[in-house]
Amino acid sequence: MHANSRPVTSSQTEAHAHLPHLIARHLASPYLKPVMPYNRAAFDLFAQQWRSAGEPPLILDAGCGVGLSTYHLAAQSPDSFVVGVDQSADRIDRKTQWPGPPPPNALLLRAELADFWRLLGDAGIPLSRHYLLYPNPWPKIGHLGRRWHGHPAFPAAVALGGVIECRSNWPVYVEEFALALRQLGVTDVIVEPFAPVTPITPFEIKYLASGHPLWRCHAQIRANVIAGIKQ
Ligand SMILES: C[S@@+](CC[C@H](N)C(=O)[O-])C[C@H]1O[C@@H](n2cnc3c(N)ncnc32)[C@H](O)[C@@H]1O
Repeated sequence: MHANSRPVTSSQTEAHAHLPHLIARHLASPYLKPVMPYNRAAFDLFAQQWRSAGEPPLILDAGCGVGLSTYHLAAQSPDSFVVGVDQSADRIDRKTQWPGPPPPNALLLRAELADFWRLLGDAGIPLSRHYLLYPNPWPKIGHLGRRWHGHPAFPAAVALGGVIECRSNWPVYVEEFALALRQLGVTDVIVEPFAPVTPITPFEIKYLASGHPLWRCHAQIRANVIAGIKQ
């Protein structure tokens, strides 16, 4: 299925030279854009469900699309609560494509991530795992600020802690993600080729079927890093 996806092409072949400057700027000045009411409403719904479940370890599937990965992560981790967040109401509503009944520990939410990350942080709710699976690569050289690690909310996302993992079919994205984590003080950042036996997202399925090599970056975010970002 979908075996005709083209690999990412870009005139950018290595990490963007401006990334360190951009991260330093974002660290120095917190992202202050007001939170949109619909994101606060989505967050309140999440918080109520997570608290009713007894506040189990929390996994965030950030940019979950149709939520297939949310489904799989929840099925694999019955003792955790998995929240899949995507800004596209259309994609979120397609959870009808889930291969089985909704796991009781999964919730899909339409929300914008920069707001959702900050609301989690403001409420003091930490993550146990944080997935950013196949984000839009924004491969044009001028689009650095649109990649997640170039976004002003990225430090707030990292300050949620846990094990963070980003997957992509564009190695430059994953390399930049790793550089950004290291600049924020994260150590033991692993970047590696990735060949999943069982793909868990539609993009992962499509890229594997098209023969694309895949990469991932993952790291454990420790308390000293969180404290450093929040200073
Ligand atoms: C390339 S798709 C990947 C979807 C899914 N993770 C997968 O692997 O199949 C990227 C997703 O990120 C979502 N997204 C992009 N920017 C977002 C934002 N600011 N807040 C929430 N979701 C966002 C898009 O709506 C889209 O569904």
